[in-house]
Amino acid sequence: MADGRARVAASILDADFGNLGYAVKRAERAGADRIHIDVMDGHFVPNLTFGPRTIKALRRRTELPLDAHLMISEPGRFIDEYLDAGCDSVTFHVEIDEAIQPTMEAIRAAGRAAGLAVKPATPLSALEPYRDLLDIVLVMTVEPGFGGQTFMKDVAQQKLLPARELLSQKAFGGEVHVDGGINRETAELVGGLGVDILVVGSALWIKGHDMGREIRLVRALADEGYQYQLNDGQPPIPRDRWSTFTSLPKHLAKRLMDEIEAGGIPVIMLRGDGQTNPDGVRDYDLLVPMTVEALTRERHEADRERYLRQAEAWRGEYVRDHGAAASTER
Ligand code: DX5
Ligand code: ZN
Repeated sequence: MADGRARVAASILDADFGNLGYAVKRAERAGADRIHIDVMDGHFVPNLTFGPRTIKALRRRTELPLDAHLMISEPGRFIDEYLDAGCDSVTFHVEIDEAIQPTMEAIRAAGRAAGLAVKPATPLSALEPYRDLLDIVLVMTVEPGFGGQTFMKDVAQQKLLPARELLSQKAFGGEVHVDGGINRETAELVGGLGVDILVVGSALWIKGHDMGREIRLVRALADEGYQYQLNDGQPPIPRDRWSTFTSLPKHLAKRLMDEIEAGGIPVIMLRGDGQTNPDGVRDYDLLVPMTVEALTRERHEADRERYLRQAEAWRGEYVRDHGAAASTER
């Protein structure tokens, strides 16, 4: 897993269409964090690419998450096929002429991340009505349709920070994506505007260029921008690193996990290597994403202490009722 905060999604729009399976593998080996798949219908945009069957075939070729970017007029009509194809997130355009909410609900009901994209001329306010359903805001910094166009700096400067605001109801997991003209020249600027996912297309597929180096440069420069613009010079916290919040006997760990998750913070519960309880079972560790460690403490420090006291009481009772520990772990 990459260090730092920014993540790169490799767009395969400019890859060799004769060998997309290889392109995806190549991007994975070069260290891309995601694959970004640009679906175009020749109607919403003046270009035609691939559909759900291609995505389904690519799904088998890589372990990386697949982000679908649907530049199509009727996502609602085809959404089940894209979900069935195995996309981890589906982002479509807010400029379409059909109802948006049902499609977003279908994406979320399938347990995938739901995104809305805005063309350069569309104001972010168009996304306001869907705030509660948004996992991803994708800001286009070129006109959708083709790779290799020039980055629109003014659009990035106008929209990227406010896009984060649109996701403020999510304690964790909301993502701002920037798509169009991202490369080593533009990464630092968008990183400094707090973007989470940089979609990189044509810059990865230049003949003779080292794809891995481009990905590493884009990520590092984006983090540098973030660190100096938004994070007071502090190195950013990696998006996907977890830290142990507390350790408790299993039944109590489960209860605290549910309480934390109710507030939108994901928790991983793992059998830890801490103390062994009188019933012979070790404490379980509760892990939360490092980026929301402080928020978790702010919300749940008192709960944590209460549960630790309960754990002590439970251990005492257990010993009274059943005698001392079976020393081996079950
Ligand atoms: C354009 C697509 C982009 C495209 C970006 O409509 O949405 O994902 O692949 O390509 P570059 O990085 O070349 O602008
Ligand atoms: Zn795209």
